Amino acid sequence: MRIRINMFWEFIFGILLVHSDQYPKLDNLPPYLIPLVYPELDLNPSADLLQKVLQAQFRRKDLMCSSLSRSVPYCICTTYQVLDNIGMLSLKKMSGYKSEAIVRSTLQHSNYYLESRHNNLQNFPSNICEFPEIAHLDLSYNKIKDVNLVSCITFLDTLKLQHNLVEYLSNETFIHMRLLRVINLSHNRLKFIEPGFLINVNGSLLEFDVSYNYLTSLDITNIIWTQTIFCKANFSHNSISSITNELNWRSQGKLEFSFFGRLDGSYNNLTYFSFFGENGLNVKHIGKLYGWRIYAWHNQWNCDCKIYPFAKASEMVVKMVHTINFFLTCESPRHLRKKALLDIIKKSELDQLICNLSLADRCPPQCHCFYQPAIGNRTVIDCPGSGLTRIPSALPLYDNLQIDFTNNSIRNLKGISQFGLEMVERIKKLDLSNNQIIAISDLVLDRFRKIQLVNITSNAIKRIPRSLQMLKPCQIALGKIIMKCKCEDLWLKIWLPLQYQSCTGNTQIVCEHNGLLRPITEMEKVDLGCSETNNNASLLNMSICSAFAAVIIIASMVFKLRYECFILTRSIFNFCKKPVAPHCIKHDIYISANEDDPLVRKWLLTSFVPYLERKGFDVFIFFRDSAFGAPREQETIDVMSKSRNFIILLSDITNGTQEWNKREWRYAWNYYKCDFSRNLIVINYDFVKCDDFVKKFFRGFFTLRKVINFSNFDNKIEEDILTFLK
Ligand SMILES: *[C@@H]1O[C@H](CO)[C@@H](O)[C@H](O)[C@H]1NC(C)=O
Ligand SMILES: *[C@@H]1O[C@H](CO)[C@@H](O)[C@H](O)[C@H]1NC(C)=O
Ligand SMILES: *[C@@H]1O[C@H](CO)[C@@H](O)[C@H](O)[C@H]1NC(C)=O
Ligand SMILES: *[C@@H]1O[C@H](CO)[C@@H](O)[C@H](O)[C@H]1NC(C)=O
Ligand SMILES: *[C@@H]1O[C@H](CO)[C@@H](O)[C@H](O)[C@H]1NC(C)=O
Ligand SMILES: *[C@@H]1O[C@H](CO)[C@@H](O)[C@H](O)[C@H]1NC(C)=O
Ligand SMILES: *[C@@H]1O[C@H](CO)[C@@H](O)[C@H](O)[C@H]1NC(C)=O
Ligand SMILES: *[C@@H]1O[C@H](CO)[C@@H](O)[C@H](O)[C@H]1NC(C)=O
Ligand SMILES: *[C@@H]1O[C@H](CO)[C@@H](O)[C@H](O)[C@H]1NC(C)=O
Ligand SMILES: *[C@@H]1O[C@H](CO)[C@@H](O)[C@H](O)[C@H]1NC(C)=O
Ligand SMILES: *[C@@H]1O[C@H](CO)[C@@H](O)[C@H](O)[C@H]1NC(C)=O
Ligand SMILES: *[C@@H]1O[C@H](CO)[C@@H](O)[C@H](O)[C@H]1NC(C)=O
Repeated sequence: MRIRINMFWEFIFGILLVHSDQYPKLDNLPPYLIPLVYPELDLNPSADLLQKVLQAQFRRKDLMCSSLSRSVPYCICTTYQVLDNIGMLSLKKMSGYKSEAIVRSTLQHSNYYLESRHNNLQNFPSNICEFPEIAHLDLSYNKIKDVNLVSCITFLDTLKLQHNLVEYLSNETFIHMRLLRVINLSHNRLKFIEPGFLINVNGSLLEFDVSYNYLTSLDITNIIWTQTIFCKANFSHNSISSITNELNWRSQGKLEFSFFGRLDGSYNNLTYFSFFGENGLNVKHIGKLYGWRIYAWHNQWNCDCKIYPFAKASEMVVKMVHTINFFLTCESPRHLRKKALLDIIKKSELDQLICNLSLADRCPPQCHCFYQPAIGNRTVIDCPGSGLTRIPSALPLYDNLQIDFTNNSIRNLKGISQFGLEMVERIKKLDLSNNQIIAISDLVLDRFRKIQLVNITSNAIKRIPRSLQMLKPCQIALGKIIMKCKCEDLWLKIWLPLQYQSCTGNTQIVCEHNGLLRPITEMEKVDLGCSETNNNASLLNMSICSAFAAVIIIASMVFKLRYECFILTRSIFNFCKKPVAPHCIKHDIYISANEDDPLVRKWLLTSFVPYLERKGFDVFIFFRDSAFGAPREQETIDVMSKSRNFIILLSDITNGTQEWNKREWRYAWNYYKCDFSRNLIVINYDFVKCDDFVKKFFRGFFTLRKVINFSNFDNKIEEDILTFLK
């Protein structure tokens, strides 16, 4: 049984220590202290061993451990002091001294004990500094206000000052008293403890009691201890309502905290969980508090999103040991009232830890907004049925906005086009269903490209603009739209989500034709009486986009023109000198495309490649023509070296074989660069913007507008490409 328990602990610590470097480090710990962080591992420590630990740790021979328990922390926290030669001192009113003074008994001792309770003392005995050998000082139940004098009693082990009138504690008073083990200042009138006290304690201070005082704030540097171990720090029954960080302290990876200790902050007025982040404690270092127990019951805790990082970080530990090191119960919000943090974590209710956003956080007045880190770090803006007539002009400055504008009377989307791009980029989901939107402008559609899902079902949309093609079909939901279809609407047949896609239901277009309703996907050109030739109306109006592109071009011309010059001079060179086709050319065209995109495959296999092959070109597409089982890299290089033209389809960089495609681009670019008889054609399939990688190879093509935009699904694009081919 014992073995099993040990294995269990080993397992837990194994995980904790391997999984992160934030848990207490065992390697720089003296071996005798390992049982301190690893209580169950040490199999048979005897009382002797514990004694050694104690003496080695505090470099004191006078401490004994009163517990026979195997646990090192338990031993350390039940120490008492043994002095062979201790004498008693007493107090007397003496002439020449203002207050009472100490009188020495005739016998000389190496240490002394002084006790004077209920004695109306207003100061320390005036000659106290003549007695540095006092080991134990009990002046409780007096009227002492100032404790600073105590620092001259260098051998002091125990200071009992409970029930006095002390108001202020300097961070200097006790810091050099290396033998001081117990400070009891409970039931005083402490209003302030200077910052930088407990964190700098490095002696044998084990108990620090300031319960029942008037503290209203506590500095983080008086919460964190770095001494190897402390036993008790008691701040309970004060009015602490804020944690401060006056010295601007920051936790650092290499700083070790105490391995063990109990900190009591119960019965205070703490509301916001602000230990982490703003007060310098990095939530990444939370594992260093693993052996601590922090009690913070009976406060006014508001369990909001500020608790989330801590709760999330504790989740794993709670799963394994079913306990936590920070105990608190929530007071608000109402649905979490009287709930313990431990239960919230145990029951996986972290999604309840939200922060409501106010008008000051740019939440629109009609809406309810909240930040919810547990669900994808999202911020929800909820305004269903709140009488909105237009898109609010301000939104919270958070990322991952999920906006619900359903059941309102929004008529136009002007507000969206007025948002800056960076605002739109924050939006992940936008639900506009059940409104009265009539039309979507090109500019708005351009903005929508940044949004993961836009829902505009159940609005009054009667016409679908061609620029809708800029969006992926799964990005937008228009619901069922019944309209009078025209020839120029037939592009929708290809754009609409495919049958097997998860978003099939997002958009359905039904044509009202000859009094019948038919889905547009079943309509043919002849049904609508269209001629086979292209009409100019079907050209996508890209004037806005090209204006945009022009700005980019002008801007980027100012910068490096390296690639452009290369491509330009190359074209001129080609013009003058007819390229010679070497014998080794095997394929006319090598196509590099994202094979995982079903739309790309469909277009390639059913439209583009057949077209090229009809024109007599030998086309190689990897997913169709590769030799089965051959190493891909080798085959790619082989085939590319024997191809004259490379066609590259840029599509979204998020999925599938893109990493692979990037290698193909590298080869293609290198061949194109070095061999003037080859050609490289770039088709921008998904309106990919120039990200860094794309830029590296194709910036020149973009700026020189040698990129064919896949804005048309009709035959024009294929003809365009044909004119480029060699
Ligand atoms: C300090 O004194 C108070 C009041 O006498 C007592 O209740 C408390 O236990 C003492 N604290 C410690 C740490 O001994
Ligand atoms: C002690 O407190 C004062 C402010 O009250 C601060 O300036 C000083 O840095 C502190 N000392 C230490 C050692 O932190
Ligand atoms: C604490 O004191 C010990 C012994 O004097 C010393 O070795 C150690 O470096 C000190 N630690 C800190 C953080 O000052
Ligand atoms: C802190 O002091 C209070 C009041 O004396 C006491 O009830 C509580 O148990 C103490 N906390 C710890 C951890 O000893
Ligand atoms: C707690 O703090 C609030 C405001 O911060 C104050 O109104 C209230 O009186 C405080 N309660 C106690 C017991 O100090
Ligand atoms: C947020 O606001 C809602 C509704 O106003 C309220 O029910 C909830 O308690 C609030 N939550 C927090 C954490 O303040
Ligand atoms: C969560 O979102 C907030 C603001 O929306 C952002 O500051 C923070 O970095 C995000 N955190 C993570 C882990 O993404
Ligand atoms: C919107 O209104 C419809 C009918 O008016 C109602 O069925 C639906 O529940 C409402 N949705 C929301 C989110 O309020
Ligand atoms: C869009 O909203 C409608 C109505 O609220 C809903 O039925 C539909 O599932 C939503 N579509 C998507 C893709 O979320
Ligand atoms: C091209 O557009 C013009 C003006 O918009 C129109 O008059 C003409 O009929 C159109 N041509 C075809 C073939 O549709
Ligand atoms: C293209 O858009 C511009 C401005 O939006 C407009 O003036 C022009 O008439 C449009 N051209 C066609 C062919 O639709
Ligand atoms: C990537 O493609 C696979 C298979 O086509 C699909 O299951 C997955 O959801 C896609 N992932 C993303 C992020 O689009």
